[in-house]
Amino acid sequence: MGAGPAGLLLSHLLHLEGLASVVIESRTREEIEATIRAGVLEQGTVDLLADSGVGERMQREGFRHEGIYLRFRGASHRIALTQLTGRAITVYAQHEVIKDLVAARLAAGGQILFGVKDAALYDLDSSPKVRFRHEGKIKEIEADFVAGCDGFHGVSRPSIPSRHRQEFTRTYPFGWFGILVEAPPSTEELVYAHHERGFALVSTRSPQIQRLYFQCDPEDRVKNWPDARVWEELHMRLEGSDGWKLAEGRVFQKGIIAMRSFVVEPLRYGRLFLAGDAAHIVPPTGAKGLNLAVNDVRVLSQALVAHYRGDEALLSAYSATALKRVWRAEHFSWWMTSMLHRFHDDTPFQHRIQLAELDYVVSSKAKALTLAENYVG
Ligand code: DHB
Repeated sequence: MGAGPAGLLLSHLLHLEGLASVVIESRTREEIEATIRAGVLEQGTVDLLADSGVGERMQREGFRHEGIYLRFRGASHRIALTQLTGRAITVYAQHEVIKDLVAARLAAGGQILFGVKDAALYDLDSSPKVRFRHEGKIKEIEADFVAGCDGFHGVSRPSIPSRHRQEFTRTYPFGWFGILVEAPPSTEELVYAHHERGFALVSTRSPQIQRLYFQCDPEDRVKNWPDARVWEELHMRLEGSDGWKLAEGRVFQKGIIAMRSFVVEPLRYGRLFLAGDAAHIVPPTGAKGLNLAVNDVRVLSQALVAHYRGDEALLSAYSATALKRVWRAEHFSWWMTSMLHRFHDDTPFQHRIQLAELDYVVSSKAKALTLAENYVG
């Protein structure tokens, strides 16, 4: 269920092992290939995509980064990711990963049904069925297993009876305002900025296109932010006494992202297995969402392969195995979010505590390593 990174990659990995699957998606191919999401791939994500034969364009067009900057009190401090961990990140947009996976599935004769309506799951604890409307007809597919990869708002998770699932949620009292800009990069590595007016982030997509974010009211509207106001806010939060300047350019995309932490346990009900955003959400700080989805399906694909070889152990352990990594990333994303954002009940004490922690992260090798090893995965 779902042609996001989790569903498409799972279908691809199963295909490589000779296992058949059908991917069912409510949106069109054009929509999924144009949805703007994050763009930071952990080393392990890059390795898995490359090793499974879908990394060729990523390796050509993606950008390897060996550090990030934390910026506070108007000065930047580098966290040397690769020097600390031996690993790096790659900046390559999520919708580009989607395009590569869709192309690989279709080239291999894989079935992806786009524009599916009214999908519903039945008999999940015996012989699972998916019933839906596609191209004007009601259809049903019976399968050995259903992988629920259909995102936070998908039908998979609510198909688990509520007495069989426990949910853990934290909603943050802010969102991120994101823009895409036609401009040269202002920095060779990402900048995560702490400021009295709120968090800001400078990321990139290519030498011509930059991705910028700033913390905003989650109820705010894009129409309240004409370009001039966006630039004024970004300049205030990002520039300081050290003379570093943010390059402006033509803004061609704007959007507001809500921020929440969410986990459902367990990730299994009968023959339904949840993966990606259907199972867990992290706030975007640290860009863990896509990487967690990739880890889920790495574990799930291996478990399904073992099942067809007669070994149930990995499938029985799937939920516990995946959740370990999920909760690590939940903690890291919550920690980065808490350290860098302004909360509305902020006191001057709270602000000083954040700065004390940032000072510690950039001056202690132990604390910098903690950030780095979580960041690179
Ligand atoms: C991007 C998004 C993130 O959430 C992040 O932490 C870093 C980069 C991005 O979209 O480029």
